Amino acid sequence: MSDYVLNVNGAKLKVSALADETLLSVLRNRLDLTGTKYGCGEGECGACTVLMDGAAVHACQTLVADAVGKQITTIEGLEQNGKLTAVQQAFLDVGAFQCAYCTSGMIMRATVLLHELPNPTEAQIRTRMNGNICRCGTYPRIVQAVQQASHSMAKGGAR
Ligand code: FES
Ligand code: FES
Repeated sequence: MSDYVLNVNGAKLKVSALADETLLSVLRNRLDLTGTKYGCGEGECGACTVLMDGAAVHACQTLVADAVGKQITTIEGLEQNGKLTAVQQAFLDVGAFQCAYCTSGMIMRATVLLHELPNPTEAQIRTRMNGNICRCGTYPRIVQAVQQASHSMAKGGAR
């Protein structure tokens, strides 16, 4: 075991982990941040998507050592002062989930998408969200939620 200091959701957290342990394992099993999900474990489903220095990464494919010195944001870190982000609110409003296993990864991916492309077309949403899989097939509502978040961010300056 080695000690690492991670910056997660704005807090510096000390954690002991194995050298070959993934960021996903550390978040879920050592830091109790279970909003990030384990799906395939192979970089294919997007359930484990988190932000690292603002970019979407697969936590299951990221070694804990590679996360040191980076700003990591998980689903738990999006809401601030009790206020959901526009993307979170839109997923709730539209009901863009059934079992919700994919939802945190979808929200993290959509957050990056709207940061880079504030007014995406439907085709751009589908392309950018393509690496995130929803086994319940709620894709039409996920697209709708991203569109709603885009509109509310444009209107009210919501995050
Ligand atoms: S669990 Fe990481 S991409 Fe599927
Ligand atoms: S809502 Fe069930 S996997 Fe997407």
